[in-house]
Amino acid sequence: MGSATFCWDSCGLIVQLALPFSLPAGDVEITVPQGSGVTVLVKRGTLALALRSCYLIADKRHVDTLSVKPGERRSFAFTCQDPAKHFVLEIKKNIDCASGLCPLGEVPLQPPVSAMPALNRTFVWDVHARKSTGLELRFSGPRLRQMGPGDYCPDGITHTISGLVAAAVVRIGTFCGNNGTVSRIKLQEGAKVALHVPWYQNRNMSGFSIANHTAIKRLCIIESVFEGEGAATLMSANYPAGFPEDELMTWQFVVPAHLRASVTFLDFNLSNCERKEERVEYYIPGSATNPEVFRLDDPQPGNMAGNFNLSLQGCDQDAQSPGILRLRFRVLVQIPQNESNKTYVVDLSQDRTLSLTIQPRSKLSRRFVAGCFVCLESRTCSPNVTLAPGSRYTISFLCDDLTRLWAMAEKTLSCMDYHYCQRKSFPLQVPSDILRLPVQLRDFSWRLQVPKDRLSLALTPARKLQQHTHERPCNASSSYLVASGGPGQDVYFGSFCVGGSIKQLLLRQNSSVTLRTFAPRLQTEVPGLTVSFLPYFKEEGIFTVTPDTKTKVYLRTPNWDHGLPALSSMSWNISVPSGQEACLTFSKERTGVVCQSGRAFMIIQEQRTRAEEIFSLEDDRLPKPSFHRHSFWVNISNCSPASGKQLDLLFWVTVTPRTLDLTVVIAAVVGGGVSLLFVLGLIICCAKKKKKKVDRGPAVGVYNGNVNTQMPLQPKKFPKGRQDNDSHVYAVIDDTMVYGHLLQGSSGSFLQPEVDTYRPFQGAMGDRPPSPPPTTKLAEDEPESEPYTFSHPSQAAGSHGSTLAPLLDTQEPGRPAE
Ligand SMILES: *[C@@H]1O[C@H](CO)[C@@H](O)[C@H](O)[C@H]1NC(C)=O
Ligand SMILES: *[C@@H]1O[C@H](CO)[C@@H](O)[C@H](O)[C@H]1NC(C)=O
Ligand SMILES: *[C@@H]1O[C@H](CO)[C@@H](O)[C@H](O)[C@H]1NC(C)=O
Ligand SMILES: *[C@@H]1O[C@H](CO)[C@@H](O)[C@H](O)[C@H]1NC(C)=O
Ligand SMILES: *[C@@H]1O[C@H](CO)[C@@H](O)[C@H](O)[C@H]1NC(C)=O
Ligand SMILES: *[C@@H]1O[C@H](CO)[C@@H](O)[C@H](O)[C@H]1NC(C)=O
Ligand SMILES: *[C@@H]1O[C@H](CO)[C@@H](O)[C@H](O)[C@H]1NC(C)=O
Ligand SMILES: *[C@@H]1O[C@H](CO)[C@@H](O)[C@H](O)[C@H]1NC(C)=O
Ligand SMILES: *[C@@H]1O[C@H](CO)[C@@H](O)[C@H](O)[C@H]1NC(C)=O
Ligand SMILES: *[C@@H]1O[C@H](CO)[C@@H](O)[C@H](O)[C@H]1NC(C)=O
Ligand SMILES: *[C@@H]1O[C@H](CO)[C@@H](O)[C@H](O)[C@H]1NC(C)=O
Ligand SMILES: *[C@@H]1O[C@H](CO)[C@@H](O)[C@H](O)[C@H]1NC(C)=O
Repeated sequence: MGSATFCWDSCGLIVQLALPFSLPAGDVEITVPQGSGVTVLVKRGTLALALRSCYLIADKRHVDTLSVKPGERRSFAFTCQDPAKHFVLEIKKNIDCASGLCPLGEVPLQPPVSAMPALNRTFVWDVHARKSTGLELRFSGPRLRQMGPGDYCPDGITHTISGLVAAAVVRIGTFCGNNGTVSRIKLQEGAKVALHVPWYQNRNMSGFSIANHTAIKRLCIIESVFEGEGAATLMSANYPAGFPEDELMTWQFVVPAHLRASVTFLDFNLSNCERKEERVEYYIPGSATNPEVFRLDDPQPGNMAGNFNLSLQGCDQDAQSPGILRLRFRVLVQIPQNESNKTYVVDLSQDRTLSLTIQPRSKLSRRFVAGCFVCLESRTCSPNVTLAPGSRYTISFLCDDLTRLWAMAEKTLSCMDYHYCQRKSFPLQVPSDILRLPVQLRDFSWRLQVPKDRLSLALTPARKLQQHTHERPCNASSSYLVASGGPGQDVYFGSFCVGGSIKQLLLRQNSSVTLRTFAPRLQTEVPGLTVSFLPYFKEEGIFTVTPDTKTKVYLRTPNWDHGLPALSSMSWNISVPSGQEACLTFSKERTGVVCQSGRAFMIIQEQRTRAEEIFSLEDDRLPKPSFHRHSFWVNISNCSPASGKQLDLLFWVTVTPRTLDLTVVIAAVVGGGVSLLFVLGLIICCAKKKKKKVDRGPAVGVYNGNVNTQMPLQPKKFPKGRQDNDSHVYAVIDDTMVYGHLLQGSSGSFLQPEVDTYRPFQGAMGDRPPSPPPTTKLAEDEPESEPYTFSHPSQAAGSHGSTLAPLLDTQEPGRPAE
């Protein structure tokens, strides 16, 4: 078999190999000239170490490696047809810039790839310089793209670049030779470039040049050039392993001034610092406060126009437990979006309890697609931003599609002074600054806080509301979600939108009202709602319903399928316009509730006559559709139900013009007034049990010990002293007594729970009423220093005194608007 000799003229390296070179069996001869600084190593590939089916034959012996040093000549052969699967070639050149001449400029690829056996080749240039000499690697061809762990390059060609820190090698990164942004890498003291060219590639140039440079005084500087829109993902040295201790690494970005760049940290870790702090520093064009220093867990800057640079600074690590510092980040360069040139002011300086969050609509946190940022002062951009109360913010958006963001706001309205707030009202309004934002306002929540057992809440909509039910869903562009909560018990009253018959909602305790919008931009007509503070009442909620003619009003007990909370009571005040009649219909025959303790009842009371019907919700059938000519109450009181046997009622009311004819006909037939009433009762009200009239306040949830026994909507009564109130209190007790025996009759098992439920009333006939209403006496004990206040939600848990500020105090320690 013939052989061929290839000459590498400049250095005198001679490679001689068999012809044709695709046939491996022949001999290859390599001569490395004296003084060339090149060592050629033939060795097993890392992946092929275990496969010992192919050998290298040199000097008639099987060997694993063969090294040819300067001044040596070696020949070798392989025992197999496919040596590329087993062996690799490493061509290492030492370049000494510390002493003597340093060959700067374009680095040649020698010997040429085409002259070498078809093995994977790694060309290694090991450049040593003085400690304070900088070296610059310039990539003249396509720019490099840094590879993350697990990445690969489409053409298989990689550049691995390392630096030196006190003679220790630090891997700066591995890069693909195309489609990237990295154009220059500056190092100090030394540089090592390993160019890996797989056996099937015929690359004929190294693609870089070396220049000397003044000291850079850091591990390295990586220059990244953007010519248009694009993105680059870059990593700290040694990534994913730890960044060298107490080192500094800089990335310089060349960005055309008409584009905008944003930085996002994809992942990072911090080490345990003994001295100094790990941080990043930016030089941002146009910033008056350069360098801008950020912690790694801060939102990173964005919307930067023009060139900028970013430095990562390590710290002195704890020797026992150093931890690791590492960083992987992404720079996104975009043309300025329409909105990015627009700024919006959100002034929360006058509002101590309103906070606003703008965040991505979906939580696809890991997969970062295209940038969609909210920028503060056009500078600090992050995917989400929270504006805390008390400051004025200028925000802008760097986002191609603003529907990918939405806003959530929360405001606390806390009224802790009983005297001050009673019967005061406040509109629940969305500030115009927030309405003007170009993103959808998803939720605006008001947290309404009242002192325990002292005040309750009334919500009065500007336009009547409809309760969202399956039967009559809300289709408006926004709804109010109403919930109240106390320790261990949350009550979700439901979702309400405009266009219904609910005139008012009264809520017993601390509640939240959330305006939720469904349209991208809130319609100009924001439904209005006013909250006012009322004397405390014990029912969970009271709805005032004023149906219009020919509408069907659907109403449902709170908490829906999860059931009305145990031992709670709800009331509906349903108006019947004069000349009309209402038909009340329940969706099912029986409630299915099973009481563990206490009793579940419903009372339907006509407001004019106070005539009541009482139904045991456990035993009785629910009433058949019943007609009401006058306004009436529906009250539902729950027991403590067995799990899975909850109380959940849906009913509806329809109002129609009164059918006068019927009355006339009956009057004609029967004659006398008393009989007429009796007959009407029979015919019109299809109810089962008609109780005797009670000439006192409207009856409501009277049967459960911890449920209020009085109607709250008679405000005049409350400011009275206890004595004046007694009649009211005793009326309740009377009701209990009146109904007690009736209830017992309806169920044999009543007696036992009765003991439980009646206990709070024991001794009630004595001098202590069971549930004293707030009296002036008690109120006077309240510290006067707690006026009606707003408090920040996150501070609410802390001490009141320090965080609360008077609502109406206009000369509040005013911060100048920033
Ligand atoms: C040669 O390089 C290719 C591509 O980089 C790689 O997949 C292969 O494992 C290498 N072969 C050996 C023997 O190392
Ligand atoms: C270059 O990168 C972009 C995204 O960074 C990618 O869409 C494109 O396919 C890449 N082109 C090549 C040739 O790899
Ligand atoms: C490398 O090959 C390209 C064509 O593939 C040729 O244009 C170029 O001149 C060659 N460079 C060297 C240094 O041989
Ligand atoms: C680069 O090297 C040359 C010659 O080795 C020297 O004259 C020059 O001052 C060096 N430049 C820098 C910036 O170190
Ligand atoms: C790096 O930080 C992540 C969380 O940010 C953590 O889950 C991971 O364990 C850390 N890794 C190391 C090596 O400390
Ligand atoms: C970073 O940018 C600033 C301003 O352009 C420049 O003064 C500074 O030298 C740069 N630092 C590095 C390490 O590139
Ligand atoms: C926003 O972009 C649209 C087209 O995408 C353009 O018609 C409109 O003029 C732009 N507005 C501003 C303020 O740049
Ligand atoms: C916003 O755009 C207008 C014209 O489109 C330009 O005059 C103005 O300088 C820009 N403002 C900023 C802050 O870039
Ligand atoms: C962004 O959202 C994340 C997760 O929801 C949160 O941890 C982070 O604090 C938010 N950042 C800002 C600036 O609001
Ligand atoms: C309502 O909230 C206020 C303030 O957080 C608290 O003091 C009060 O006890 C709460 N009321 C109830 C019934 O939990
Ligand atoms: C909402 O529903 C009502 C009737 O239920 C209908 O008249 C109205 O057109 C609907 N509106 C929308 C926006 O669908
Ligand atoms: C019941 O509702 C009617 C109509 O809104 C109202 O006039 C009346 O005061 C309410 N009754 C009570 C006790 O709240």
